[in-house]
Amino acid sequence: MKTTAITPSNIAFIKYWGKKDEALRLPENGSISMNLSNLLTTTTVEFSSQYKEDSVIINGVQEPNEGSRAIKHLDRIRKLANISDKAKVVTENNFPTGTGLSSSASGFAALTVAGAKAAGLNLSEKDLSILARQGSGSACRSIPDGFVEWIDGDTNETSYAISVYPENYWDIVDVVAVVSKDKKHVGSTQGHKLATTSPFFEKRLELINDKIKLVKKYLKERDFEKFGELIEEEALELHAIYLTSKPSLIYLLPGTLLVMHMVKKWREDGLPVYFTLNTGQDMHLICERKNASKVSALAEKINEVQKTIINFPSEGARIVSKSLF
Ligand code: PMV
Repeated sequence: MKTTAITPSNIAFIKYWGKKDEALRLPENGSISMNLSNLLTTTTVEFSSQYKEDSVIINGVQEPNEGSRAIKHLDRIRKLANISDKAKVVTENNFPTGTGLSSSASGFAALTVAGAKAAGLNLSEKDLSILARQGSGSACRSIPDGFVEWIDGDTNETSYAISVYPENYWDIVDVVAVVSKDKKHVGSTQGHKLATTSPFFEKRLELINDKIKLVKKYLKERDFEKFGELIEEEALELHAIYLTSKPSLIYLLPGTLLVMHMVKKWREDGLPVYFTLNTGQDMHLICERKNASKVSALAEKINEVQKTIINFPSEGARIVSKSLF
């Protein structure tokens, strides 16, 4: 059966960085995120005995099969469904890939949801999240709705994401500022392996559970200022780990730093906006909905910002009736 899924990317407020189990992608720590309404992957999957080999087409480009993460993921689905048919996968992202906007999160979530259904599986949200996690860790958070917690867990079955609040819980917005469409030089799969080479990583793990508790408290209270301060601090801590890894990981471009300075200035001028960012140069500017157009207009005035994408909190993965082939 040909099946199509649409899934959002997500932005982590408390980040997943470092794995305690490489093969199962079990994270060193739990994380908290929000699904993004306008960073979307659409994926259609079909398994058929007619296909001689797997074919994966991402944004119109055929992926090489050798060592492909997507094909390894199809193998996981085939194993669960006890089938051997090859698959055709066509996937499209409506946003830049590999620049820090977490296309692997939405991508593996979409492949999981469309692939599982196409293979005849009827998995629960929890099981879909567990399966998505094995393709790309952060993908497990794109399955449930709204504001999401990934419970780190010590085993395959105990490491998955759940919805903490639905998408309409809090009117906050992520104004993504695209700084450059160049792909990052080291992807997150490689980067995670370097986490423990930073002298500050152990300290991070020591403090992370208290930080998770705190961000959940501010979410519960909808305390935007305290929430903003904490998530900005967390993003800078992640980059402190990157910068002090061996070899160092430098994702910050001049445009990224400029946006950081401007966000601080806008705050001094009375506009409540905070930044966060992932493995890459693009920036996520978090503000309340009433300030979204203003933040977007200000960001677009910066020469180094190519464009902005306004995202509201979003539902998670869903099956749709349209098809990409
Ligand atoms: O899921 P991965 O392997 O792409 O790692 C994601 C890592 C960060 O984006 C930096 C943080 C996060 O929690 O999304």
